[in-house]
Amino acid sequence: MNVTFILKDQTERIVSFTDGQTLLEVAEENRIPIHGACEGACICGGCHVLIENLADKLPKISDQENDALDNAHGVVFNKSRLACQVVLTPELDGLRVCLPHGR
Ligand code: FES
Repeated sequence: MNVTFILKDQTERIVSFTDGQTLLEVAEENRIPIHGACEGACICGGCHVLIENLADKLPKISDQENDALDNAHGVVFNKSRLACQVVLTPELDGLRVCLPHGR
């Protein structure tokens, strides 16, 4: 199963994931530059990404994730998520994720 990260220079990196990994874990494994300062505790907002497709297949955003997104830059309604909170499942094979500008 694969996820595509679209980097700030618009290059695309297709990487594989296993069921149950978070988007942040997959990014870190593949040296995708997402900086989660709180290491997945859903506080810092630094792992903010923009979801480009399959949004309806993602787990619902929690109140805590919503609060942490207040600390992120360039938030886009209905696209912004925190990579540490997105648990990947087979349904999310083919997910496309954009790294936001302005960080
Ligand atoms: S790593 Fe800090 S909110 Fe995701």
